Amino acid sequence: MTPHDEQITALLTQLDQALGSPATTHGLARTLRAAVKEVELHRHHRASVADLSDGVLKPSPTKIQIGGGGHRIEGFLNIDIVPPADLLWDVREGIPLADDSTQEVFSEHFLEHIDYPRSAKHYAHEAHRVLAPGGQLITGVPDAAYVLSQYPAPPEQATEMIERWYAKRECRSDINTYLDLINYVFRDQDDDPTYNPHYWAYDHGKLVQLFCEAGFKTVEPWTFDPTMANPKRRWASVYVIATK
Ligand SMILES: C[S@@+](CC[C@H](N)C(=O)[O-])C[C@H]1O[C@@H](n2cnc3c(N)ncnc32)[C@H](O)[C@@H]1O
Repeated sequence: MTPHDEQITALLTQLDQALGSPATTHGLARTLRAAVKEVELHRHHRASVADLSDGVLKPSPTKIQIGGGGHRIEGFLNIDIVPPADLLWDVREGIPLADDSTQEVFSEHFLEHIDYPRSAKHYAHEAHRVLAPGGQLITGVPDAAYVLSQYPAPPEQATEMIERWYAKRECRSDINTYLDLINYVFRDQDDDPTYNPHYWAYDHGKLVQLFCEAGFKTVEPWTFDPTMANPKRRWASVYVIATK
């Protein structure tokens, strides 16, 4: 174990002890839980870094999915920071592929979960770097433009949208009005540590700007393909396909 890994292990022990103390207040506990989660992600990532000689996957996969969670796609190498991915990797640190080495990068409902601008812009540049010329980046996110366009929504419509997105979440009982729904699209911050917050909201125009800035030649709307994308994401999401 390296000195850094020893430090991280000691830190985790300290965080657990502080969290277990009755003196720890609600605000401090929230921050400590977030820190524990980051430490655990960091450990997954460090273990994968140690397994990769030269820091890149060899041979390079033809297609990769980023942040697929439980939605694995056949024929793709599935990269996520938590299981059941093929590679546990923190994409905020880059994409571990060689330059110009892959044909397709797919993600949906992932981009809004990494901080903007640093990590979102880094991701766009990394996707551009690893794609071969002509390669394609497909990206789907919750469509903030759609959600905002419905405001102010009548209570029945608000209830329908809330049910579609949050029926299975523990937070469901706290999402009561349309403005609560808008808050969630922009800042999804469940106290449940298994959820990643939303850090930034996107629409078609923002995706075009982000990927053009990263060097992609064209960014067009992508026609939803349920053989690849998660069918539950079809509603109220916006997808684009960017070509290098
Ligand atoms: C809301 S889920 C979406 C899962 C799937 N794409 C879908 O549409 O059902 C977001 C996913 O992004 C992953 N994720 C978040 N931050 C990440 C990071 N820094 N590196 C890799 N994956 C990350 C999470 O672990 C999670 O699986």
